[in-house]
Amino acid sequence: MDALPAPSPAAAADARAAARVTPMMEQYIEIKAANPDALLFYRMGDFYELFFADAETASRALGIVLTKRGKHLGADIPMCGVPVDRADEYLHRLIALGHRVAVCEQVEDPAEAKKRGAKSVVRREVVRLVTPGTLTEDSLLDACRNNYLLAVARSRASAAGQEATFGLAWIDMSTGEFVVAARDRAALAADVARLDPAEIIVPESLYDDAELQAYWRALPAVTPATRDVFDGATAERRLAGYFSVAETAAFGALSRAELAAAAACVTYVERTQLGKRPPLSPPAREAGDATMQIDAATRANLELMVRLSGERRGSLLATVDRTVTAAGSRLLAQRLAAPLTDPARIVARLDAVEAFVGDAGTRETLRGHMRAAPDLTRALSRLALGRGGPRDLAAVRDGLAAAATIAARLEALAGAPHEIADIAAALRAGDAAVAREFARALADELPLLKRDGGFVRAGYDAALDETRALRDESRRVVAALQARYADETGVRALKIRHNNVLGYFVEVAAQHGERLLRPPLNATFIHRQTLAGQVRFTSAELGELEARIATAAQRALAIELDIFERCAAQVAAMGEAIRTVAQALARLDVACALAALAAAHGYVRPEIERSLAFAVEGGRHPVVEQALLTNGGPFVANDCDLSPPPGGDAGRIWLLTGPNMAGKSTFLRQNALIAVLAQAGSFVPAKRARIGVVDRLFSRVGAADDLARGRSTFMVEMVETAAILNQATERSLVILDEIGRGTATFDGLSIAWATIEHLHEKNRCRALFATHFHELTALAAKLPRLHNATVRVKEWHGDVVFLHEVVAGAADRSYGIQVAKLAGLPRAVIERAQSVLTALEAEDRASPARKLLEDLPLFAAAAPRVPAEAAADRASAALIAALAALNPDDLSPRQALEALYALKRQWADMQED
Ligand SMILES: Nc1ncnc2c1ncn2[C@@H]1O[C@H](COP(=O)(O)OP(=O)(O)OP(=O)(O)O)[C@@H](O)[C@H]1O
Ligand SMILES: [Mg+2]
Repeated sequence: MDALPAPSPAAAADARAAARVTPMMEQYIEIKAANPDALLFYRMGDFYELFFADAETASRALGIVLTKRGKHLGADIPMCGVPVDRADEYLHRLIALGHRVAVCEQVEDPAEAKKRGAKSVVRREVVRLVTPGTLTEDSLLDACRNNYLLAVARSRASAAGQEATFGLAWIDMSTGEFVVAARDRAALAADVARLDPAEIIVPESLYDDAELQAYWRALPAVTPATRDVFDGATAERRLAGYFSVAETAAFGALSRAELAAAAACVTYVERTQLGKRPPLSPPAREAGDATMQIDAATRANLELMVRLSGERRGSLLATVDRTVTAAGSRLLAQRLAAPLTDPARIVARLDAVEAFVGDAGTRETLRGHMRAAPDLTRALSRLALGRGGPRDLAAVRDGLAAAATIAARLEALAGAPHEIADIAAALRAGDAAVAREFARALADELPLLKRDGGFVRAGYDAALDETRALRDESRRVVAALQARYADETGVRALKIRHNNVLGYFVEVAAQHGERLLRPPLNATFIHRQTLAGQVRFTSAELGELEARIATAAQRALAIELDIFERCAAQVAAMGEAIRTVAQALARLDVACALAALAAAHGYVRPEIERSLAFAVEGGRHPVVEQALLTNGGPFVANDCDLSPPPGGDAGRIWLLTGPNMAGKSTFLRQNALIAVLAQAGSFVPAKRARIGVVDRLFSRVGAADDLARGRSTFMVEMVETAAILNQATERSLVILDEIGRGTATFDGLSIAWATIEHLHEKNRCRALFATHFHELTALAAKLPRLHNATVRVKEWHGDVVFLHEVVAGAADRSYGIQVAKLAGLPRAVIERAQSVLTALEAEDRASPARKLLEDLPLFAAAAPRVPAEAAADRASAALIAALAALNPDDLSPRQALEALYALKRQWADMQED
């Protein structure tokens, strides 16, 4: 965002001298100078106005009209505005585009300002900084997703060559979640991908770091924060201060970088909330190996949260989400994004799911109660920030009531597993007395805003009842007065009315007006207004009455607001307990939802182990299966066994060949998804699944490009493959779909070949590798833990029939042309391709490609170069040199023929060597 022409107060003063800056503009410029990196919403009456560069930015972003307002330094001032009552909508769009907005309100009555002199401006202050990572309003948030602010600090490597580590801290201000972690570079990226933060703050030095700057700039909403936000020296004090504890040791042993990041989070929150402290849980430390590490590319291509197209429908989450509350949906998303690695914790979650799989009655009853339970944590944070309304209090009331009902139901379950007993206990954390109190206090119909009043139930507060009676009584008095006046004047149609300009007034039709204007009635009635059809009057009595009514209404509202504040304070004081209850409700929702899913689609409980097993019987792809349910055929279940061979100490690699469209990619992904679901604590789409926990999951498809980041298709594929080969451990699960496809055949084949060898010998991970390079199947003879599998098809009158059945063995061909035919390529092209293929295959048989492959040295990179190889290199170099030296234009036909013979001889010699 561009700075204003006159950013500092001093400069503003100069400017005024030069070009008579209006006092209001002067105030604007001063406020804007204090908030240079935010769009300034400057309150003027019923609008927030934007000026100068802000106006230009906002009008472009929001598609609203850019106008002008007066002049500044001789030039027009660009301006645009948004109505206050629709401000949320515009805020939402600006925030979604990555802007920050400073909301500047009038903080005094315009009448007060007038007292200081005719020219004085109303005092205004920025009351809030709205940034993508610090939102609390339902209208600005997605109910089913967390909204994270992430802070990243780096601890410098202590020794040269040692990798730097990062301190991460993330919060969801709308729910109070607060987590810190230490990560290396790869895990940092994996966590960023997992959390998908709405906003990331980093120290300036890290933002401009040579290695990382491209990374930050490719992410949305990364803000370099000023040094004090990340200052290490004061971090401890700031963090402890936020939670009013003496020392941060209370939060466990945090590294310097973790402390810096955590303190940056709370400081940033305070700064954007202008000193207010939304209730956050104390920071919980998450160990680096607690969750399955899944990098951004893997997440994207397994379509865990969104499809590659960006759509949510058809993602794993959308397919398996049966939750009935927003908090449950958020928790399920969190769990799928970060599957666990500790078998005990996974088993606890599975126990809870299992308890509800067979018991549809209890499950549906509980789900009925939860459906009615509101989003407690978000109501809590709004109340604590003074942004709450009566409906937020009702949310607390209803949430706590639902929790108590549900807890009773859970406590009555016989033989419930520990996880459920734990949930039941947590549901009791809220203070039932408060819920009862709110039930007494709140009316049945609640306004959205507290200033509208009328939300406190009659009979709750004696003083309020009295004032309201007075107010309502006065209204009856008005009615009585109208009847009396009608009598006294003899004007039957006389009415007492009210509007905002005149207040209460007496109104008669024009033809009766004269009568009231003449004695004796003019002693009572004072003329106010003559309209086309009516004449309006007031009277001393009516004036008095009006004052009484207004005071009573004002007093009633003041009492209501008092009650509101008292209740809000009660809620804030129970913050921790409310979060516990909300979390327990979400856990229960997820357990019931996963049970409902398992019951509906025949999922089974996976067996989770510390071994390196990976044995899935009758596995299915959760998303493809459900898609097929709605439009056609059954899904063909398939087995997959990557467990170590008997007595072996490392898992297997399956090399999957098979025709196009056979189901290779589907098979690969379904196994990865089964691992994710199982470790997230869900049942899985299979007949049986035995899974030794996976520490890292990698999935690559050799086709995506990333032109926006300046990488070609093949470059992306190789960068991603490099990451796998460098990071996969024995515990990892690697899915490689057609690696090496994006380049010339022999280059690709060689890379695929070497990759499999490396995975088998060095990474020793469990892996699935799909390929059209049928030559690779020869590797099974040399690599003991490599297993060939293929997807069966049938040929039927020259066409292929896909059976989608994975069996042991290797495919002999790809049926690419048949698939192309199915896809509708023109017949001429199909026929031509068929004849080219026949010719190529004949040639392939003539050249001993198989022999060539068998001669390829295994693990050449690891072994020292053998002299024979060097000799072969020299010979081919000589051949190339001879070829290069030839200039066909200078040769007679005879010389050309001789040259050709010579080259051929040279090549033949090379083959013999
Ligand atoms: N097990 C299965 N049961 C039923 N249908 C399946 C199964 N597996 C795959 N399919 C169907 O076949 C289609 C093609 O599958 P997939 O993309 O996995 O093939 P592929 O072997 O990877 O093909 P290509 O070599 O062209 O990449 C899927 O979109 C799906 O509709
Ligand atoms: Mg495929």
